[in-house]
Amino acid sequence: MASLYVHVPFCVVKCGYCDFNSYVVDDEGVHDRFLRAIERELAVSWPRGVRPVSVFFGGGTPSLLSPERFAQLLGIVDARVGLGDCPEVTFEANPESLTREKAEIARDHGVRRASIGVQSFHARHLEFLDRAHDAAGAEAAFAALRAAGFDNLSLDLMFGVPGETLVEWQQDLDRALQLGPDHLSCYNLTFEPGTKLTHAMQRGEVEPNDEEVDRAMFLHTRERLQAAGFEAYEVSNFAGAGGTCRHNDHYWLQGDYVGVGPGAASHMAGVRWTNLKPVDAWADAVLAGLPAAGSAETLRPRQRVAEALWLGVRRAAGVDLAALEARLELPVREWFAPVIAPQVEQGLAEYDGVTLRLSAAGLLLADYVSGALLAAG
Ligand SMILES: C[S@@+](CC[C@H](N)C(=O)[O-])C[C@H]1O[C@@H](n2cnc3c(N)ncnc32)[C@H](O)[C@@H]1O
Ligand code: SF4
Repeated sequence: MASLYVHVPFCVVKCGYCDFNSYVVDDEGVHDRFLRAIERELAVSWPRGVRPVSVFFGGGTPSLLSPERFAQLLGIVDARVGLGDCPEVTFEANPESLTREKAEIARDHGVRRASIGVQSFHARHLEFLDRAHDAAGAEAAFAALRAAGFDNLSLDLMFGVPGETLVEWQQDLDRALQLGPDHLSCYNLTFEPGTKLTHAMQRGEVEPNDEEVDRAMFLHTRERLQAAGFEAYEVSNFAGAGGTCRHNDHYWLQGDYVGVGPGAASHMAGVRWTNLKPVDAWADAVLAGLPAAGSAETLRPRQRVAEALWLGVRRAAGVDLAALEARLELPVREWFAPVIAPQVEQGLAEYDGVTLRLSAAGLLLADYVSGALLAAG
């Protein structure tokens, strides 16, 4: 019971905040070589005919490929796993490259869910974030996917952009809801080490938003989306008519997954490996019939538990430690009760001896709580 992740590492621009493995490459020869390598890697890493729990085409920007190459990519994966039979198949679409033609190609290959990278509807914030589209482009991408028959559309939004006001974020959420999405992901902008944005902050050219404003945005997001009928099933994720994202839920529940493409990570029963990150190095290895993994590690038993708690505590349902004990056959509660106790004492977590959850106060400090659990591994 594994999920499949396919990483498409190309983007139109490299957004200043982004530390994902993505590159600006418009040489279509590189795209062709990427497709040949994906086919090879899939042939060795995914058994033909085995149905994945979910498939996710992420990036980077899968929608950036030309219509012919996009169809080729979907055809390669479809031939291996039978996309039409998979319970959930998602692709990430960016407004600047998604067209009605590509939406129809995806639909014809059994893709039923798309996640659109909107981030903001305000021109000045889109510009600050280096996005290659405007608000109208995001709305047009949404309309094109709906017109092609997609009935499960998710939007990615970001709040806490330097200089952004609470009112602007409220407007963003309202405008997103007007589209009628089936799922929403709302992320607080993070200053990731090594990014252009973080360098600008270190030089004093950019100042992060006031933490109080970010907190108000976070709380407003939950209130507004819950009032609109969305379920806050994870700190940053909201399920509407489309339900939860099965692919992410499987990952948060520490399920097995195979990742193909440069920099893609895989996890099988406590063993994790990550592909070489540069597109050339990854493709060289795969096309020479060599392993594409650049690193691998076997998680120590205590580390496995810590990761399960780190990922699971962000879900509204929390983590069932008794179920975790049964699954991993490890003394989870004996090991982690002393780690959980101070979180409960500080009022950040709730624990009844079986289920561990974030409290209302802990939700605002989810990274701190989950980080403490991970560090105890
Ligand atoms: C890596 S992107 C890939 C999808 C697509 N290329 C796009 O730009 O929308 C996935 C999502 O992660 C979020 N993201 C990326 N970097 C982030 C950061 N530093 N802080 C908060 N959210 C971030 C954005 O909302 C983005 O849509
Ligand atoms: S946020 Fe998306 S479009 Fe921007 S660089 Fe990262 S992967 Fe590419």
